[in-house]
Amino acid sequence: MPVITTIADLKRLHKRRTPKMFYDYAESGSWTEQTFRENTSDFDLIRLRQRIAVDMTNRTTQSQMIGQDVAMPVALAPVGLTGMQSADGEIKAAKAAEKFGVPFTLSTMSICSIEDVAENTTKPFWFQVYTLKDDDFMQRLFDRARAAGCSAIVITLDLQILGQRHKDLKNGLSAPPKFTLASMADLATKWGWGIEMLQTKRRFFGNIVGHAKGVSDPSSLSSWTAEAFDHALDWDRVAQLMKMWGGKVILKGILDADDARKAAALGADAIIVSNHGGRQLDGAVSSIRALPAILDAVGDKVEVHFDSGIRSGQDVLKALALGAKGTYIGRAYINGLGAMGEAGVTRALEVIHKELDTTMALCGRRDIRTVDRDILLVPKDFEGSWQ
Ligand SMILES: Cc1cc2nc3c(=O)[nH]c(=O)nc-3n(C[C@H](O)[C@H](O)[C@H](O)COP(=O)(O)O)c2cc1C
Repeated sequence: MPVITTIADLKRLHKRRTPKMFYDYAESGSWTEQTFRENTSDFDLIRLRQRIAVDMTNRTTQSQMIGQDVAMPVALAPVGLTGMQSADGEIKAAKAAEKFGVPFTLSTMSICSIEDVAENTTKPFWFQVYTLKDDDFMQRLFDRARAAGCSAIVITLDLQILGQRHKDLKNGLSAPPKFTLASMADLATKWGWGIEMLQTKRRFFGNIVGHAKGVSDPSSLSSWTAEAFDHALDWDRVAQLMKMWGGKVILKGILDADDARKAAALGADAIIVSNHGGRQLDGAVSSIRALPAILDAVGDKVEVHFDSGIRSGQDVLKALALGAKGTYIGRAYINGLGAMGEAGVTRALEVIHKELDTTMALCGRRDIRTVDRDILLVPKDFEGSWQ
């Protein structure tokens, strides 16, 4: 067993153990991947202030996200097809998150269903919905999430249409997957993955097949996904969906201060500053660059969360120090899952927790809830002067 000290170690194992089609699906951004790259490289522009001779005993990373206690303010982001990175992947990730004490968010486009995850966990998780046209289906999704005890929904607002990821087309990734000679040859070398996958019945979109009208089997799914997303989405529709759910709501995919003001005015419990991990609008600014202006606009009106580009505890600390109250990791835990299943997700959380705790201490802080801009050195032109 290799010694794992970083998320990059898990990423290397993920690549080795998981079919190329699914590894590439996770490790891509849209079009030129500029935004995907800058999500991580912009974190490097921010430096930390080293402080000395400060008591660092009795440290804590415990905090709250939307009123819920968390062992550290790092949730698992909704990630589609997680059950293809490792058999029953959503259940494994949810269990790891529960044991660690951080929130797990289940994607609408998951392989394991809401019910599958609920049956295999003991604490409430969060459920992410895309904004779909079919009101009956949305209502049923909400009812199912409520029955499963989900304590919040995350409404994703940056995916009415899909940003193209070239590799997915070249690899034949689709729902259901199309296998080419090349992908079959690759699969033959990933036998550990294949054996586990043969042992589970969960291989299709569990929240959709058998639940959406006209999708009784996986083959009718492609046409459903092309049709289902609501291209006409507007803020009134967002308000309507929030009302339909009636519980705690987190609005995801905010990258602009004007949009943040609109989301806050709707009374969301939190917003997530996110560009979908660089998978939607290529050419958009990195999420970390967008964060300060959004905090200036609405930081006192709504809880502001952050994702896109986090690969370490130092990244988490930087986002929190800028003012985010919570963060999410996507690929960082998917790398762990693809590498080693549930143990890999736990390892990803451990790596990030250790980095977060140690870095906080070396910056002279003992309580994650007290970190602020004072521990950072942010370049004067970090946000950029755009016209
Ligand atoms: C493979 C993959 C699938 C994703 N699927 C979804 C999804 O189904 N719903 C959603 O709201 N966001 C989805 N996202 C975006 C994540 O929730 C999150 O915003 C993003 O991963 C954060 O960036 P990071 O991967 O750099 O941490 C997906 C991201 C990845 C990498």
